[in-house]
Amino acid sequence: MALISLTGCFPTPRPNPLADAPIYPIKPSILYDTVQEYCVDCHNEDKMKGNLDLTKIVEGNLNDHPLIWQDVAYSLKHKEMPPEKEHVLIPDDNTYREVNLWLEQRFNYKADKTNSGSQVTPD
Ligand code: HEC
Repeated sequence: MALISLTGCFPTPRPNPLADAPIYPIKPSILYDTVQEYCVDCHNEDKMKGNLDLTKIVEGNLNDHPLIWQDVAYSLKHKEMPPEKEHVLIPDDNTYREVNLWLEQRFNYKADKTNSGSQVTPD
């Protein structure tokens, strides 16, 4: 009985969004360039902002850390990163658009779950 109620407390683990996908190397890509230029100053081994180090995983495949890149996709889709108030370099709209498109095409996934009816509109 105790065991049943205990396991009931854990949230369902997130499914791997790229479980059935081909391997997606990150380098070279707009994602690679964007992370190098706008993200690793904070998300590195020393600073570990948000408890996140992107410097090594950006050298690998999207499929190696699908849940982290899913979070990155979410933060980029909503322009939450880099944090505006920190007065750091922010990607321009075109870069945001391109990197979001790159990610969405690979995840085939709507980062904005609250708006699942929205279409990906490349332009
Ligand atoms: C000026 C420092 C700074 C820069 C530059 C920066 N971040 Fe962050 N990031 C943070 C901090 C601080 C947090 C944790 C607090 C928060 O979520 O705001 C964070 C958290 C995150 C998270 C964790 C998820 C979440 O919502 O908490 C992700 C994913 C992320 N950043 C992605 C990025 C990406 C992608 C870039 C580059 C486009 C980037 N960050 C650039 C400071 C930074």
